[in-house]
Amino acid sequence: MRIVAISDIHARRNGLDDDLVCAIRSKVEEYSPDVFIVAGDVSENAEILRRTLRLLAVPDAANLYVAGNHDIWFEERSGLGSFEKYSSVIGDICRDAGFVHIPDEPYIQGSVAFVGSMGWYDYSFRRVDLDISEKHYLQKQWRGYVWRDYYAIDWPYTDQEFTTLLNGKLNYDLETLPEHIEQVVYVSHHLPFRDLTFYKDSLPWDFFSAFMGSVKTGEILKQDGRVLLSISGHSHIRRRVEVDGLTAITVPLGYGRPPDNVYESLVQDAIAILKLGDTGLFIEHFVEGDICEGLPYIF
Ligand SMILES: [Fe+2]
Ligand SMILES: [Fe+2]
Repeated sequence: MRIVAISDIHARRNGLDDDLVCAIRSKVEEYSPDVFIVAGDVSENAEILRRTLRLLAVPDAANLYVAGNHDIWFEERSGLGSFEKYSSVIGDICRDAGFVHIPDEPYIQGSVAFVGSMGWYDYSFRRVDLDISEKHYLQKQWRGYVWRDYYAIDWPYTDQEFTTLLNGKLNYDLETLPEHIEQVVYVSHHLPFRDLTFYKDSLPWDFFSAFMGSVKTGEILKQDGRVLLSISGHSHIRRRVEVDGLTAITVPLGYGRPPDNVYESLVQDAIAILKLGDTGLFIEHFVEGDICEGLPYIF
């Protein structure tokens, strides 16, 4: 089984990234994947998400999506709230666009299950040596630097409560998989392992690392025993780590765009190509690091 994955496309408004999105779809099609994964952060706007997923859907593949934090930012104009977007709206958009929103229900192909969650953060990735008190994480701000979810998420849960909620759903999905499932691929937006986080020894960067993921999510994956691959987004720096025999990668594109609008090399770097077989996992193509380094940023 061949899997192609990407995340964090962050499509711009007014179709400005249509060429990029079509270039991604064409490139993915070249590899004839059985499963095409998009791990969140396509757009804050539900209609741009719909339009982009329609352009991205690969006709002969199972197209799988998990929402990212940007995708669930509330929309004042349409009245869509964060929880509503995550629990129903994005699933509907995926169905309409030829994708499966796997946080709603795992996707199964043969003896492999793809289990998905947006994942969330509980500050367990924070650097405790920084001497920044808990209150700053709860308020998502430190010395005037603000984590944008503070303004854009409107559910009543604390971050710890929401992380617990999603971890509970992940446990449920794993426990209720059919008996014939031998291998599990976990797909999320936020990170399940601290080692995927890129710390820079600088602030506010390392303060924001607290909003990358949850240690508890990774514990659930390790305990299951069938999870051999974890694919995430959110961090815009691509990493690959091995954790207890499990391979975990991040596959973001990010905020950079080539000034000449020639997308070939950016797209080639952005997609990860993986093969799953009876003997396990083989990574055919994966670029590490910040693939947008040196490119003009869109935000
Ligand atoms: Fe992102
Ligand atoms: Fe994100």
